[in-house]
Amino acid sequence: MKRTILFVDDEPNILMGLRRMLRPMRDKWEMLFAGSGPEALEIMSRQHVDAVVSDMRMPGMDGPQLLRRIMKEHPDTIRFALSGYSDQEMVGQSIAPTHQYLTKPCDEKQLVNALEMAMEARELVPNKAVLDKIARVEHLPVLPEIYNRITAELAKGEPSPKEIGDIVARDVGMSANILKLVNSAYFGLPRHISAPQQAVIVLGVNVIRSVILSLHVFSSFQNVGRVSFSLPMLWGHSMRAGAMARTISQHEHLPKEEADHAYIAALLHDVGKLLMEAHCTEECERVYSIVRAENRRVAEVEAELLGLTHAEVGAYLLGLWGLPAQVVHAVARHHDASPPVGTPAGTTAGLDVADIVHFANLLDHEIFVFNEHYAKAVPSPERLDAIGGPGRYADWRKAVLTMGLGSEDK
Ligand SMILES: [Fe+2]
Ligand SMILES: [Fe+2]
Repeated sequence: MKRTILFVDDEPNILMGLRRMLRPMRDKWEMLFAGSGPEALEIMSRQHVDAVVSDMRMPGMDGPQLLRRIMKEHPDTIRFALSGYSDQEMVGQSIAPTHQYLTKPCDEKQLVNALEMAMEARELVPNKAVLDKIARVEHLPVLPEIYNRITAELAKGEPSPKEIGDIVARDVGMSANILKLVNSAYFGLPRHISAPQQAVIVLGVNVIRSVILSLHVFSSFQNVGRVSFSLPMLWGHSMRAGAMARTISQHEHLPKEEADHAYIAALLHDVGKLLMEAHCTEECERVYSIVRAENRRVAEVEAELLGLTHAEVGAYLLGLWGLPAQVVHAVARHHDASPPVGTPAGTTAGLDVADIVHFANLLDHEIFVFNEHYAKAVPSPERLDAIGGPGRYADWRKAVLTMGLGSEDK
C-alpha cells in the first residue's frame, strides 16, 4: 500500500522543488502539498497522512504550531521539520512536537531514507494499541539540540573534528558529562581526554553523537516517578554493552562505520525500557513483578502480557529519530532467539550488526549478574550457529573479559 506524505511550505518554489526531486518515489508514496498550516490541517481532516514534513517559518500558523496541532489531532502521523540553517535557534526552542529535524537544502537520499525509516519503525511494533499510547505522549523525548546542530553541520559537508568539538564545547554541562564518560573504564582509553575537540578526534563524530544521545535520553528519564528497575544499573549495563560491542568489532576487524553502528545500537538497545516505564508504568510494574516472582526474562514476559517488547518500542523511537537502519533493526532484534532475517546488509566479517548487539547484551548479562531474580541469559543454538558456532562466542567472551569493566558500578 502506498504511504501518504504531506509537505507544507509557504514558498511555492520549495514545494515545486520537492515535487520534482521526489518524482522517483511516485510509485511508493502518494505526495500531497500544502502552502500553509490551515491548508495542511484541512487536508488531514479529509484523509489519513502517514508523515508530515513542514517548514518552520510560515506566516500565520508557523511550523511548531502546526506540528503541535497535528500531534494532538493525529498522534500517529510522523512529524518532521524541514528548516533553513538560520532557523536553528527557533527549531531548537520549539522542537517538542517534532520527531525529526531536517535541514534545507535536503538531498533526496537523506529525505527519503529518513521518512522510510521512520515509517518502517512504526511497523516494527506489533501491538498498535500500546504504540498509540506511546505515540500520543506529549513528551516523547526529542533529539537534543546539540545533536541536531551536529547533524546540520555534517549535512553541510565534511566538518573538521574541531568544528564538531566546538559545538559540543558550547554546551558546558554536556561537555563535562562527555569527558567524564570517555575518561571512564567504559572506554579504556590509554590517555586522558581533556577537551571535547580531542574526544571527537580520538573517538570519531558518530561515537560522540551516540554518547550525547545516551546521556540525553537517560537524563530526560531522570525524573520519572516510579521505576520498576534501577536506572543507574540500566545505564551501567548500556555503557558496558556498548563497550563490549566495540571490543567485538575490533576483534572482528570491522570497518569504522559498521563498528560505529554496532556501538550505537548496543549503547541504546534498552532505550525502550525507559520509554515504557515512563508511559506504561502500571503495565511495567506487572511485568517486573512476574519477572522477579517467576525468575523469567523481561522481554518474554512483556511479549506475553503486552504483545510487544521494549526492543520494538526502542527501535520505534530510534527509527523516528532517523538513526541508521542497521541500528534500528539491531535494537528491534536484540532479544530474538532466532537469527535476524531480511535485515540490511550484514557486516564485512560475515556478521550482522544485530548479532554483535545481541551477544554484547548477553555477555553483559552473563558476566555481570545484576539481579539474581532474573532468569540467566543463555545464547540460543540458532544464534550461535549464525555467527559460526560457540567458538566465536567464547573468543568474544575472552576479549571482553580483558577489558577491565565493572569498576564503575560495583
Ligand atoms: Fe533488552
Ligand atoms: Fe539489555
